[in-house]
Amino acid sequence: MTIIRLWLGVTWIYGGWAKATDGGYLDAASPNYFGAQINGMIGHSPISFLLKHMLEHATLFAWFVMLSEFAIGIAVLAGVALQAATLGGFSMAIILWLSVSFHVHPYFLSNDLPYAVLWISLFIMVRNSNNGRGRHDGGLIPNLRDRREVIRIAGVAVTSVIGALAGGSLRPKKGSVNTVIAKLADVSIGSTKEFTAMDGSPAILFRTKAGVFAYSRICTHQGCTVNYDSLGNQLACPCHGARFDPTHEGAVLAGPAPTPLPKISVSIQGENIVQA
Ligand code: FES
Repeated sequence: MTIIRLWLGVTWIYGGWAKATDGGYLDAASPNYFGAQINGMIGHSPISFLLKHMLEHATLFAWFVMLSEFAIGIAVLAGVALQAATLGGFSMAIILWLSVSFHVHPYFLSNDLPYAVLWISLFIMVRNSNNGRGRHDGGLIPNLRDRREVIRIAGVAVTSVIGALAGGSLRPKKGSVNTVIAKLADVSIGSTKEFTAMDGSPAILFRTKAGVFAYSRICTHQGCTVNYDSLGNQLACPCHGARFDPTHEGAVLAGPAPTPLPKISVSIQGENIVQA
């Protein structure tokens, strides 16, 4: 049980931290924006009706998801309100499965379903161990009349907010990074260049006779990094086989990706190619 607690707690905190430090997660103009991710899932998920409501308040839900990941991870590691925390982790994993990886076939290749199984197993273990020892460990609904329990829960909440804010302070600020992608002379016509977009995400630049264009390399299925296949002139995802056409606005050619790759605005300015 300790190993599962450690694994799930650290993984959930890492998930929150990755969002907090991602320059695009809360930026509505970024392909990494939480709302853009939700948008890509709508129409392919059995809970699309719920996702549409989330989309209306995408930034609010983005904060909620990030803080929940921190709080659940910290609570599980610290042993605070364990039953509620493990049930929260299970709910998150199920919602992720229904929205992101529901159509992954065979089912065991889904990233989220095994986490849901781990969370519910941990919940049952916590519940049984509490009952077996006759201990009161917060129960499913934490006892808010117990002052120590309230202080412990408040500690988790405050630590979660501090974690999110600390991550946010490390985000690359718009305009603080050099927007030059490459010297024009270094990218010959017909070639490509991988680069890091201003929001910190991997991207790829194409130079043709007509000019330059670029795409995010984050697969719109589950976020793996796509690679350029120069033989087929396609962008290919190594995870579940999605393929995208860079010559047609990043359109999906094959695989489970729901939407084209997001375009990144680039241009030639003097001797440089820059992200506009
Ligand atoms: S992440 Fe599944 S196809 Fe790319």
